[in-house]
Amino acid sequence: MNTEETLNKAARPIRTTRAGTTYADAARDHLWMSFTRQSTYEPKESGGGGGSVPIIVKGEGAYIWDDQGRKYLDALAGLFVVQVGHGREELAEAAAKQARELAFFPLWSYAHPRAIELAERLAADAPGDLNRVFFTTGGGEAVESAWKLAKQYFKLTGKPGKYKVISRNIAYHGTPQGALSITGIPFAKEPFEPLVPGAVKVPNTNLYRAPEHLREDPKAFGRYCADRIAEAIEFEGPDSVAAVFLEPVQNSGGCFPPPPGYFERVREICDEYDVLLVSDEVICSFGRIGSMFASTDFGYQPDIITVAKGMTSGYSPIGAMIASDRLFEPFRHGHTMFAHGYTFGGHPVSAAVAMANLDIFEREGLNQHVKDNAPLFRATLDKLLDLPLVGDVRGDGYFYGIELVKDKTTRETFDDDECERLLRGFLSKALFDAGLYCRADDRGDPVIQLAPPLIIGQPEFDDIEQRLRSVLTEAENHF
Ligand SMILES: Cc1ncc(COP(=O)(O)O)c(C=O)c1O
Repeated sequence: MNTEETLNKAARPIRTTRAGTTYADAARDHLWMSFTRQSTYEPKESGGGGGSVPIIVKGEGAYIWDDQGRKYLDALAGLFVVQVGHGREELAEAAAKQARELAFFPLWSYAHPRAIELAERLAADAPGDLNRVFFTTGGGEAVESAWKLAKQYFKLTGKPGKYKVISRNIAYHGTPQGALSITGIPFAKEPFEPLVPGAVKVPNTNLYRAPEHLREDPKAFGRYCADRIAEAIEFEGPDSVAAVFLEPVQNSGGCFPPPPGYFERVREICDEYDVLLVSDEVICSFGRIGSMFASTDFGYQPDIITVAKGMTSGYSPIGAMIASDRLFEPFRHGHTMFAHGYTFGGHPVSAAVAMANLDIFEREGLNQHVKDNAPLFRATLDKLLDLPLVGDVRGDGYFYGIELVKDKTTRETFDDDECERLLRGFLSKALFDAGLYCRADDRGDPVIQLAPPLIIGQPEFDDIEQRLRSVLTEAENHF
């Protein structure tokens, strides 16, 4: 039996729960999923879509298998997470070993060796004087922590009026109420309004949708976008603005890389107005762009970096806020403390897994692999530009967005109904049926998002391109 047959055989029997319910029925009746239209899975008789929740039971390398034994190329690394690929025995071992030795201890006035080692390692890799690591359990909590730190830092240093944050349209920064305020996606926020006051939005760096006179001049566009941040600070009042939150490459909307000179100008603006630059690298760190931290890839120095996802390649949850010595300084004295924390922040098992994960990065030269192969990945995806539906391919490293348009010449996008038919009605399912797990997203203009495990190379790039080509060709009949 080859590996695939073994895996398929292993996958098939796992189809009922301990209570004897099929997984599909139990998922429909009891599982409340994130950002999911549950009606898709409700029975047709009660007005639902009658669909079956896709159930993934197994992963190996860049591939996953569902409970029917079908195999898929995981072109999204789960959710921008599984950098080193699925099924790594040594990460499972690292978790088991740590659970045996010390399964849990909090970082509330105590410490444990794995969190200490991991903090030291992250500080060594982080740019400049970002030497203080505050652990969380995920990305949204890291963003939340960064905003709270920014507010308290300015209170402690004689500028108590600085509390507002600036972030970009359509950017996603997480779901806790602070992070959600920083998020720029209206549909994700509206049900929970009023949110935390003081979160201001500026344009993102979508060159494809840039004002027409700037489309051919990325540098001028970068300058234009960065200057909108200065304008927002002036408008809000510099004494009221604490921080700017930016992803190195903005995910939501479909991978907007920074135009040349953008971050250089943002850094200047932040220095001029004494506003902290927070680099939200929840997706872009740990090799996604090619370095441990994407601020290094793009050559800028943040005051805070937020990370999560790829730190353990998803084998156990963890996140962190990495802050500069300057921000930590007021907390070194007297009775001052950062009155903030999470029971499971810096969990020993997760910290041990993160260490083992970063060992794999070093041993296998994964960052260099991404740097060497990113141009090939990009060139392979660029072939799709010959399809009538493909308007733009953009991104960096192992992180790309493919924007779909109704008319390539005018860049006309789809209206809401067309989007509904194209993305939800056809593409999401068709891509999955074609053996490709990725994301068809319309939080901005409709895009297909790709962020595969960092271990893949040309054969998988070709495979992704061919599967996309056949589905996108067929998609022309579905809007
Ligand atoms: C840039 C960014 N920040 C924050 C988050 C929130 O992370 P989490 O889902 O771990 O809370 C995400 C999640 O995708 C993200 O992409």
